[in-house]
This record gives sequence, structure tokens and C-alpha cells, in this order.
Amino acid sequence: MIVAEAWKASYLYWVFPVLIVATVFAILGLFGVVFAIRLFAKYTCGQFRKPTRMDGKTVIVTGCTGGIGKETARELAKRGARVIMACRNLEAAEKVKAEIIEDTKNTKVIVKKLDLSSFASIREFAADINKTETKLDVLVHNAGYADTFKKRKTVDDIEMTMETNHYGPFLLTHLLIDLLKKSAPSRIVVVASSLYRIGAFNIDNPNPVDTLPGYLYYASKEANILFTRELARRLEGTGVTVNCLHPGLIESGIWSSVPPPLSWMLYPIIKCFFKNPQQGCQTTVMLAVDEKLEKVSGKYFSDCRESSLSNSVSNMTRAKKVWEISEKMVKLGEDDPRIEA
Ligand SMILES: *[C@@H]1O[C@H](CO)[C@@H](O)[C@H](O)[C@H]1NC(C)=O
Ligand SMILES: *[C@@H]1O[C@H](CO)[C@@H](O)[C@H](O)[C@H]1NC(C)=O
Repeated sequence: MIVAEAWKASYLYWVFPVLIVATVFAILGLFGVVFAIRLFAKYTCGQFRKPTRMDGKTVIVTGCTGGIGKETARELAKRGARVIMACRNLEAAEKVKAEIIEDTKNTKVIVKKLDLSSFASIREFAADINKTETKLDVLVHNAGYADTFKKRKTVDDIEMTMETNHYGPFLLTHLLIDLLKKSAPSRIVVVASSLYRIGAFNIDNPNPVDTLPGYLYYASKEANILFTRELARRLEGTGVTVNCLHPGLIESGIWSSVPPPLSWMLYPIIKCFFKNPQQGCQTTVMLAVDEKLEKVSGKYFSDCRESSLSNSVSNMTRAKKVWEISEKMVKLGEDDPRIEA
């Protein structure tokens, strides 16, 4: 009894319950704040709301079996475009194609094999397109791969990330440039990332493998932007434009390469703060369809707005150097189209 009386008399008697209630409220409050931020982001992060149609236009979207590529293909199909899904995994692509046709009622959705980590596959794909398509209005370079601790080499003996994200699209652009020029006004859209600021294309070693995990992803994204800027310069006056973008941080398969325990910490952050793929495809779709952008070229966009670039990617000497290195890396031949200023 004496113990109980003393307990009641002590401040602990009321401090504990108050602490518990306060903790519960703090946790609920935190969830509330996260939820509010997420909702705010959902409705304010650039949405492309124009109903612009794409009937009669042919577009190629690379890497569209999931994530923002799939949503980009869906959006463009919804607007009436003939959508060529250029994918590595044909089985997955056929499933997505069926889903998009079902959803949009647009039957002009086509699957073609393209493996950007193989120059042979890129050449095969381009030859096929060149033969079967009379025009090409939009080429969307969307496919991406992110390196991990263990670097992988492609059949061309180049590190996987650099070839899939930069050298592959560089070669594909060359092989399709005549068709794009013939179809002018036409567009190229390059999905880059604001994470380009973390990495840099290594001019002294264009095929590095001894980097930290993820670094080559950032470097390839820097290369994407330098490529966009130099390509825009070389395409001046042709009616073919090229712009690049940051889609936002997206909930997508690309994070699956992050190893545990980092991935466990990343998971709740991804769930709470990253855009879903439908929100993530908005800037790509805008660059592909917005009539207002017909003459805009060499620019970088984020959240459906033009955005500024760092000094390193504004250096045109550097852009030109990366271009020349890339021509050698993809073994651009005598008979291949060159893109000259
Ligand atoms: C595409 O076809 C045209 C002829 O229709 C040809 O001149 C051109 O070299 C071909 N380009 C490629 C990359 O195959
Ligand atoms: C631009 O890039 C070139 C080539 O990499 C380099 O030599 C030069 O210092 C850079 N200029 C600036 C202003 O950073």
C-alpha cells in the first residue's frame, strides 16, 4: 500500500501516460505531415494537362515494359499516336501492349525488339524501322540501367550502364536521324536526371568500371545532357529538335539494384516521397507533344518547366569532346549517317 501511495504521489504517475499519448500523437502527426507532403506533390508537381492529340504521328519509346516508359507509351497511345514500343524483353512488352490497347482502345501499338546494350541489336532495330516506317515524329530515349557494386560488361565489351544509357542511344539516334529529318518537324526526347550533378563522363576513360555503385548511372546522365546540347547544335535548322528532362525521383524498378540494408532504408522514403510512374512521365509527354515547344531545342526540363543546368554541362567544348569520343566508342562506320553541324 505504501508503495502504491508513493507511486501515485510521484510525478511519474502522470508523466508516463502523458508521454505515451504525446508519442502516439507525434507519430500520427508525422504520418499526417508525410501524407500531406505526398498529396501536395501529387497535385503540384508538374502535370501536363493539355489535351493535344497525336493522331497520325509515329513515336518510338525505348524501355517501356514498366515504370515511366510504360506510362509514356500509354499516354501517347491515349492521344492517338502510333506507338512503337522498343523493348529488350518481348514477352513483358507484349503484356504491356495488350494492357495499353485495352486501356486506350488504340490498336496502333507495336512491339519491336531493341537491346540498347548491344550495338548489333540497335542496328537491327534501326534497319527494321527504316524499312517499315515511312516517318518518325518522336523518338523517346527512355530506357535506363543503373550499375551496382558488380559492374557488368555488354557483348561490345563496354560497361552496361554507359552503353545502355548513353552509347546505345547515341548510336540509335545516328541510325534514325535521316528518317527524323525526313519527318521534320520532329523531336527527340532524352530522359536524363538531375542526379547528373553527382557524376561526370570521364573524358580520359570513356569505359570505366572501377567506380562506386551508381556512379556510372550519374555519369551516363551527364553524358545524356551533353549529348542533348551538342545534338541540338548540330541539328539547328533541320526541323528536328532535341530536349532532355529530369522525370523526378520515381518509384520504379531502377531502385531494385540498391543492395540491402540501404534498400530497407530507401523503401519508406521511396514510398512516401517519390513520384509514381504516371506522375513521372508528365515532362516526357510534354516534350513529346506540346505544340508550344516545336522550335525549342537543347533545353533541360523538370516538372514540366524549363530548368537551368550546371556549368559543367553548359561547356560546349566538353560536349563536343564527349561527342567525338562516343563516335569512336560506337564504332560509327563510313556508311553510317554522321550528324554534322
Ligand atoms: C535507310 O533507308 C534509306 C533508303 O530508304 C537509306 O538511304 C539509308 O541509308 C537507310 N539508313 C539506315 C540507317 O539503314
Ligand atoms: C570546358 O571543357 C574543356 C574540355 O574538357 C576544359 O578543358 C575546359 O577547362 C572547360 N572550361 C570550363 C570553363 O570549365
